[in-house]
Amino acid sequence: MCGIIGYIGDKKTIPILINGLQKLEYRGYDSAGVCISNNGDLKTIKKKGKLQKLVDTIATQDIDGPIGIAHTRWATHGEPNEKNAHPHLDCKGEIAIVHNGIIENYSSLKKLLEKHGHKIESDTDSEIIAHLVEKFYKDDLESAVREALQLVDGAFGLAVIHKNEKKIIAARRGSPLIIGIGKNEMFVASDVPAILEHTKKVIYLNDNEMATISQGGYEIKNLEGKRVAEKVEEIKWTIDQIEKKGFKHFMLKEIFEQPEAISNTLRGRIKEDRIKLSVNFDVKDISRVLITACGTSWHSGLIGKYILESIAQIPTEVDYASEFRYRKPLIKSDDLLVAISQSGETADTLAALREAKEQNAKTLGIVNVVGSTITREVESGIYLHVGPEIGVASTKAFTSQVVSLILLALHIRQEKGLKVDKKIIKELFRLPKKIAEALKSAEDIKKIADKFKDSKNFLYLGRGVNFPVALEGALKLKEISYIHAEGYPAAEIKHGPIALIDEDMPVVFVVTKNNLTQKTISNMQEVKAREGRIIAIVNKGDKEIKKITDYVIMVPETVDELSPIINSIPLQLLAYYIAEAKGMDVDKPRNLAKSVTVE
Ligand code: F6R
Repeated sequence: MCGIIGYIGDKKTIPILINGLQKLEYRGYDSAGVCISNNGDLKTIKKKGKLQKLVDTIATQDIDGPIGIAHTRWATHGEPNEKNAHPHLDCKGEIAIVHNGIIENYSSLKKLLEKHGHKIESDTDSEIIAHLVEKFYKDDLESAVREALQLVDGAFGLAVIHKNEKKIIAARRGSPLIIGIGKNEMFVASDVPAILEHTKKVIYLNDNEMATISQGGYEIKNLEGKRVAEKVEEIKWTIDQIEKKGFKHFMLKEIFEQPEAISNTLRGRIKEDRIKLSVNFDVKDISRVLITACGTSWHSGLIGKYILESIAQIPTEVDYASEFRYRKPLIKSDDLLVAISQSGETADTLAALREAKEQNAKTLGIVNVVGSTITREVESGIYLHVGPEIGVASTKAFTSQVVSLILLALHIRQEKGLKVDKKIIKELFRLPKKIAEALKSAEDIKKIADKFKDSKNFLYLGRGVNFPVALEGALKLKEISYIHAEGYPAAEIKHGPIALIDEDMPVVFVVTKNNLTQKTISNMQEVKAREGRIIAIVNKGDKEIKKITDYVIMVPETVDELSPIINSIPLQLLAYYIAEAKGMDVDKPRNLAKSVTVE
């Protein structure tokens, strides 16, 4: 996820672009850049790091003009540095582009362009677009962009300028883009906050639409060049409401972003039932997977154990990174160490990774933040591509980590020459819709949360692949509501925790359909017999469960391996609504930090 803003008009462009980027910093902040077009000349300034570095550099230079595009980056391809920052230019320095999204076929396009003599400077997928436009440019930027985009697979929100043309071309497929309409001025941006100070009149571009904007107006066409009717909308929200997309907290916004986030994790990684992961080493020879992580990422690792053992048929161990690094683990060169981390900076996970490297294990990272320390130290990696996670309590990164582990398991299975189950692949593609379906229970969950907000303790129980889901549900609740909560394998309660159960103990059961459902129902009976109050996460049509349950939350059914992803959604919502009902600082819970860089 990156932020884009473009301006054409009669005011000073630089302050408008900088101000817009500041409003978009929540979309990405590892590097930023601007390109100004003035009298047949393009001037570009880019800086690695926080936006302020760019602002300070621009302040030392005399640069402005009537047209400009700017970008704040959240790296997907290529680490955050000046070379990879946007805007990107073509070979002659006449065309500049800013891009948000992922170009899936960029390596084949890169080869093609290099064959035709183009020199690609950066490691990004985005720069390819500047060169493609150059290839097709014959004094008409709009046609050149249109032709270039015919060759592109993947997602884009795009703004393009040419030094000799007084216009900006904007195009969208899969990544949001809006056009802002002012008086004698026009804007393009990836989100409303960037331009709200200047205009409240916007057009939301639809997928496969292109806009040509000039100082005096705009024209919207589809990618085939046919005019399309546009709808001009009036923005009524305040800036704060818009950054959180109208949600009260970033955490809630991120919970609701999960259908899109999971689509982004999957994008380009399965083609014709084949898994396409760029793992740099041969996974056939791996004899064991060692997963290491902390907190929520450790929970996804626990789910990963079930998944890797059942799908990839490979023995898997999971360790807290803080334990792994000090327990003198026995590691062999045919072990694969998988480090899971949203931030890519967690000190314990990094130390565990270094320990494994020292003992010659192969290493792979499952990380969200591109260019973070872990991504630089592993041999291979799977990026989550879910965009910045701002709420301290991890939600969309967690479900995306589980999806990434499934992709890894399928990849290993495929490389071992074993048949890949098409049902899992089908269900992976259905996940975004099923998550959206699960999110529809939000209002019902809010009502349940109101009833339980004063509870002092909670138990979360699940079995099999849903036992770690219970652990994660309990962690989410304690982090943001400060209510004591514990997760257990459901069958384990009779070995101790059952002593805690009485009418004051809410027990959340994850009891969706699988080979353990009947056994979990017996565990529910044990709780019911002791007057515990049960909230159950179930699939449709489970009448027997309804009879013994006080509150039922329905989620769509899927294959067992994918059920943790869907089943986590109501648990995230339950934790959120309880914390919200208690008036907690949901996005910044006390004593917690988003990135834990100390041990
Ligand atoms: C919980 C949470 C933490 C992190 C943990 C590891 O909601 O966010 O438990 O999961 O601190 O962080 P990363 O994944 O950045 O290594």
